Amino acid sequence: MSKLSKIYTNTDDNLMLLGKKIFNGEIVIFPTETVFGMGTNGLSETAVDNIFKLKNRPKNNPLILHCLGYNDAKLLVDLNKDDDYKFRLLSEKYWPGPLTVVLKAKKIIPKNVTSNTGYVGLRSPKNDSTRRIIEYSKVPLAAPSANISGKVSSTCIEHVKKYFDSSDVNILDDNYVCNIGIESTVIMLENGKINILREGIITSSELKLFIRKLNIKHNSNDFLIIDDQKINKIISPGQSILHYSPNKPLYILNIIDYRNTFENSSLEEFSNYTQNYLKNSILIDFNKICLKYQDIFLGYVDLSSNGDIKEAIFNLYNVFHQLNDIDCDKIFIYNFSRIENTYMSAIWDRIRRASENKEISIPYNFLNNNTAVY
Ligand code: TXA
Ligand code: MG
Repeated sequence: MSKLSKIYTNTDDNLMLLGKKIFNGEIVIFPTETVFGMGTNGLSETAVDNIFKLKNRPKNNPLILHCLGYNDAKLLVDLNKDDDYKFRLLSEKYWPGPLTVVLKAKKIIPKNVTSNTGYVGLRSPKNDSTRRIIEYSKVPLAAPSANISGKVSSTCIEHVKKYFDSSDVNILDDNYVCNIGIESTVIMLENGKINILREGIITSSELKLFIRKLNIKHNSNDFLIIDDQKINKIISPGQSILHYSPNKPLYILNIIDYRNTFENSSLEEFSNYTQNYLKNSILIDFNKICLKYQDIFLGYVDLSSNGDIKEAIFNLYNVFHQLNDIDCDKIFIYNFSRIENTYMSAIWDRIRRASENKEISIPYNFLNNNTAVY
C-alpha cells in the first residue's frame, strides 16, 4: 500500500494547520500523557464516523471529547448546580491530566460521540502541542486511542506508524513521551455520585481521599464513590469489549506450590513436558521474580526489574508491541497481581483484558527442581 500518512513537527504553523485540519474533519494523531489519541472535529458527525471506520470500532463504544479545561467542557454538558460544582472541583484538581469525566451530554454533541447514551466523556490532556492544536481547532476533539480497535494502544510514534502509516491521517511528532503509558481513569459523575468506569493512574483510593477532604471541608457526607458494576455495564458498554490484545495468545502464569510425592521418574516426565510446552514462548516478569526460570523460555522480559509499578505500567504496551514482532507461540505474564500496590488494579485491568483472563498454573518443581519461587 502507498504511504498516505503525513508527519508534522510542532512548529506553530504546523499546529495551526493541524487545528484547521481537525476543524475541517480530517484525522490528526497526537501524543498525550497517557497514550496517543486520534482526533477529529467532535461536533461533526461525519468526521466522527470516519474515526469509527478507520479504527474498526464498534458503534456502541463512545468517544472522549478532549478540551482545554472546565470552561470549554461545561459548554458541552447539562449539569445541575451541585454536579457542576463537583465537576469544577474535580477539574481543578486533576486537569490537565489523566482523568476522563462522563457527564450528561448537551444535544449539540453528535450521537455517534456518545453512542446514543446521552452521556459524554470529557478530558483535558497535558501535552502542550496537543493543547495548542485543540486551541487552534476551536472545537472539542473526539479522540479515542490511536490503535485498531481491540489491539494494543500506541505509546510512541513507531506504534502509531505500524497501524496507520498507509492511512490518510496527519501525525504530530513532537518527541513527547507518553509518560504514563496506559489510558486515563474514566469516572461518571451524576447526582453527586461518582462511578469508576475504567481504572487508571488516578486510583479509586486517591479519588476517595480527595472526596473525603471535600466532604470534611463542607461538613457533609454527600459526595460518594459508588461502585456498581451493573450500572457500569449499561453506561459503558465499551468496557466489556476485548482490549489491548497482542497478536499471540497471552496467558497469566501462576507458579504454584504443589508438593506431591512424585516418583522421580514421573516428576522428570512432567517437567520435560512442561518445559517443552514453554520453550517457544516469552515470559513477561516483574521485579525479577521469575528470573531463575528464564532459560526455560525462548525469551524473557521484565516490566520493571526493580519492582517499580509505575515503570511497569509505562512499559506494558511497549512490551506487547515488541512481542508482536517476535516469532513465538505464546506469551506468559507472571501473575504479580497479589503484590500490594495502589496502582496494581490499573495495570491488571489491562492485563486481564489483553489475556481474556486466561490463566495457567504450573507447579514450580516442574520448572526447576524443587526451588521455591520466592
Ligand atoms: O487516556 C485516554 O483516555 C486516551 C487518550 C487519547 O485521551 N483515550 C482513550 O480513548 O483511551 P478510548 O476511546 O480508547 O477509550 C475511552 C473509553 C471507552 O472505552 C469508553 O467505554 C469510555 O472511555 N467512555 C467514553 N465516553 C463514554 C461515555 N459517554 N459513557 C461511558 N463511557 C465512556
Ligand atoms: Mg482505546
